[in-house]
Amino acid sequence: MAIPSAFIDELVARSDIVDVVSDYVRLSPKGGSYWGLCPFHGEKTASFHVLPDRQIYHCFGCSKGGGVISFVMELENLPYVDALRLLAKRAGMEFPEEDLDESSRRQRARLLNLNKEAARYFHSQLHLPVGREGLEYLRGRGLSKGTMTRFGLGFAPESWDGLIKAMADKGFDKRDLLDAGLAVSNQKGGIYDRFRNRVMFPIIDLRGDVIGFGGRVLGDAKPKYLNSPDSTVFNKSRNLFALNLAKTTKLGRIVLTEGYMDTIALYQAGFDCAVASLGTALTADHAKLLSRFTKEVVIAYDGDAAGVQAAGRAIPMLEKAGLKVRVLRINGAKDPDEFIRRYGPDAFSRLLDQSENYVEYNLRQLRSRYDLTDPVQKTEFARAAAEMLAEMESPVEREVYAGQISDLTGVGKSALLQEIQRSRDQRLRSAKKKQARRDMTPVTQVQPRARNMKYENPRSARAEEGILRLLILDGSLLEETEGLDTQQFSSPYLGKIYEVLRHRLQEGRALQLGMLEGELKREEIELLADILNQPEAIENGKKAMADYRAILDTEQMKKGAADEAALLAAREKYRQKKSI
Ligand code: UTP
Ligand code: MN
Repeated sequence: MAIPSAFIDELVARSDIVDVVSDYVRLSPKGGSYWGLCPFHGEKTASFHVLPDRQIYHCFGCSKGGGVISFVMELENLPYVDALRLLAKRAGMEFPEEDLDESSRRQRARLLNLNKEAARYFHSQLHLPVGREGLEYLRGRGLSKGTMTRFGLGFAPESWDGLIKAMADKGFDKRDLLDAGLAVSNQKGGIYDRFRNRVMFPIIDLRGDVIGFGGRVLGDAKPKYLNSPDSTVFNKSRNLFALNLAKTTKLGRIVLTEGYMDTIALYQAGFDCAVASLGTALTADHAKLLSRFTKEVVIAYDGDAAGVQAAGRAIPMLEKAGLKVRVLRINGAKDPDEFIRRYGPDAFSRLLDQSENYVEYNLRQLRSRYDLTDPVQKTEFARAAAEMLAEMESPVEREVYAGQISDLTGVGKSALLQEIQRSRDQRLRSAKKKQARRDMTPVTQVQPRARNMKYENPRSARAEEGILRLLILDGSLLEETEGLDTQQFSSPYLGKIYEVLRHRLQEGRALQLGMLEGELKREEIELLADILNQPEAIENGKKAMADYRAILDTEQMKKGAADEAALLAAREKYRQKKSI
């Protein structure tokens, strides 16, 4: 992917890391850098900081670090090129799309175009005699014509090559259809339509491109839903059905459903905030994606055991992405679609307002596992509930829920609160112990703190790190490295980075960590960020450089001497052997 390096350099130069990070994290200045709560791991006190002069971020808690591009990659969960796109948009710079790998760009465009044509084809079938059954089916499920158009619903007729033929007329060949997952190959090397006799749901991404399809059988055949396989343009674990519509909702939250029909039924009833994961469990990527568009997610899964289990898994994932989570309690219907058809939009609206926060939800789930008429189980439940409440940070909330548990179990509220406090104290103690253990571990520059890699020669490596740091902070110091050779680096890892830096500076190019993010591996960037996070005597750069080089020289000499001694010893042994 040849994106001109000049473009990247300019982009990084124009994307001040403090500005960019501030889009996501509340930062406050303190002692020359900016501090905030780390967006990559949960924490209550700030151990994440951004250094404006070095244009890096670094977290002392989770060791994540890097420049502006890796920050966006990590946080938005984007591949390198997409992170560049996002930053370019932000900086008001035009992205040099045409310089992307020409053939893969064309392939992508071709598949998207094919998908669009296929969606048109499926949609048009609905209004032909051959699609009557499909139309009847969708009508039977209560969908209006407007809704069908809004979602671009369609029908794949009962035929082995209906779509293949129609797409051939548009110039698409066998390869394209296979690549897009619209056709399947048979043993004889031929192909046939993947979707047959199904109503079709196009899956549209945030840019409005059709990236895949879901198809539902009309009857009871299996599988009920068939989805496009993952392809160059379609990735189930990164896309959500209808997010293209829900992303602009004014309802202030996003409702997460299990399926296509739930999402569409909600939309038709006026809830334009519904999305569904596509025949897979919710992933951390989905959660991150959602957090870009909303602060609150309401889980509206089916009320059956599978739905409860899926919600149980989704909750911590969503919370981790910083989302407020509520869970809908659907009574008298199996899913939102059925609920709305039976009780109407107003009833659903009330349901939304009554949706439980996750504590209420978890408590109710916990409660269903105990028989509260049995005194022993009742006590056990009270204890387990107290444990759960201990996780709540707000004393007011703890008080309220303790009251509820007390009413339920007859265990006194003050006894419960005591139990909660005990559990909290215990947690605090173990957290403190952990911290103490961390404090005792000598992080004193013996090894790169970003990972647990050990340097073979820590003394030399520390000086090597210093050389890299100086070069990034002041490119003019390149002169001072005259004659310094990668061979002198005790760490091949640092030697390689040195080579990259030197090369850049020799070309007279600007040097910021952020500009290296396409050239170096993720862990190398993290290591560099960590190196840059260390103090440096930059006012006296020349002297510092000379000192570091002196260390490299001595260490190299020592190593040479050690090697020589080893050599002599080996020779001696040999001689002795010979004389025997
Ligand atoms: P459900 O079976 O609950 O779907 O599966 P539903 O939306 O209630 O279906 P209707 O109302 O009978 O039409 C929930 C979701 O799981 C995925 C689909 O995304 C579906 O919407 N799924 C289900 C599959 O991918 N394949 C299947 O065979 C079944
Ligand atoms: Mn369902």
